[in-house]
Amino acid sequence: VEEVANATAKVLREQGAQALQYGLTEGYTPLRELLAKRYSREGLNLTSAHILITSGSQQALDLLGKIFIDPGDKILVESPTYMGALQAWNSYEPEYIAIPSDNSGIMTEGLEEALKAKPKFMYVLPNFQNPTGIAFSLPRRQHLMWVAKQHGTVVVEDDPYGELRFEGKNLPSLLEMESLYESEKRTISGDYQGNIIHLGTFSKTLAPGFRLGWVIAAPEVISKLAQAKQGVDLHTSSINQFVAYEMLNSGFLEEHIHVIRRTYRERRDVMLAAMTEHFPAEIKWTRPEGGMFIWVMLPKGMDATELLAKAIERRVAFVPGLSFHATGGGENTMRLNFSNSAPDKIRIGIKLLGEIITEEWNNGAGRTGQTFAGTASRG
Ligand SMILES: Cc1ncc(COP(=O)(O)O)c(C=O)c1O
Repeated sequence: VEEVANATAKVLREQGAQALQYGLTEGYTPLRELLAKRYSREGLNLTSAHILITSGSQQALDLLGKIFIDPGDKILVESPTYMGALQAWNSYEPEYIAIPSDNSGIMTEGLEEALKAKPKFMYVLPNFQNPTGIAFSLPRRQHLMWVAKQHGTVVVEDDPYGELRFEGKNLPSLLEMESLYESEKRTISGDYQGNIIHLGTFSKTLAPGFRLGWVIAAPEVISKLAQAKQGVDLHTSSINQFVAYEMLNSGFLEEHIHVIRRTYRERRDVMLAAMTEHFPAEIKWTRPEGGMFIWVMLPKGMDATELLAKAIERRVAFVPGLSFHATGGGENTMRLNFSNSAPDKIRIGIKLLGEIITEEWNNGAGRTGQTFAGTASRG
């Protein structure tokens, strides 16, 4: 709060009314240039022409729907996938093709066949996916890129959590991988023209209330998205962009990301340890190396939506998994968030949830004569 207050005061002092004026639809140029620099690596030379600032990456999802999806178009998604993307696109009436994922990410062996249906694009979350927390392994990333290249498929890479890795090795984004591949063949350098549309956001590193995200894509795609955005909100809040620029340029954000990583890692560890202690042995869950979420698989036949109604009565909340499935299923899954609560609250919440799950199972199990092998601790 103090840093935002200082940055805002500096912006108003130095930029004056300019920060309160209308701006370019594409976004505040210095912010776009700074982002381009931040992303630029060997083989990936970006300029502000590759970047559109959006009102959160949620708006980017909607704009993509606007420019790409006609009713009946096929969109390829992971199963499960980010429910906000489905919400953004449902009104454009696509048909989803859902590809299952495992602990290494999207299961790419089914991709070749699925791409024969010529989806308008493929939507993937390679880093600490919402909802599962899983990161795609390097071989999966490579296979995905290889298959997408063969079919000329546009890939929307949604990456809000990539900077929140707290263990393991950083893996290249699909945008970087494609650029490296392209730069080997390209004679002119610098003008990215590839098929990856990469989404980023300040929501998970700075503050979601700023409503600041960005799209990185070939300039031709950026220009179509900008036209679509013009009809929606003219441009994203000028003052928020000026303040975010200041916080990025001053080096605050880099430092802050270290604090977030440390904090979230501790909270993840507390939640995982509490789950091991309090959840019955029949329950499975992911062990994310970053991000904000743990994905829980309850025994088949147990309904997470029904469980939520009971959990809420004891002031514990989670997101049932059903709504993350584009083509149905997943009733027995749920998403837990570890980033937002302090360790003591996490311990209490998981203990209560363990008790509720055990009661639920044992109630139903009364009919089949089964009980959990290990029951949640009580007391
Ligand atoms: C995968 C994914 N994409 C997009 C968004 C939207 O984020 P923003 O706040 O940038 O609109 C979220 C937010 O939770 C998300 O998890």
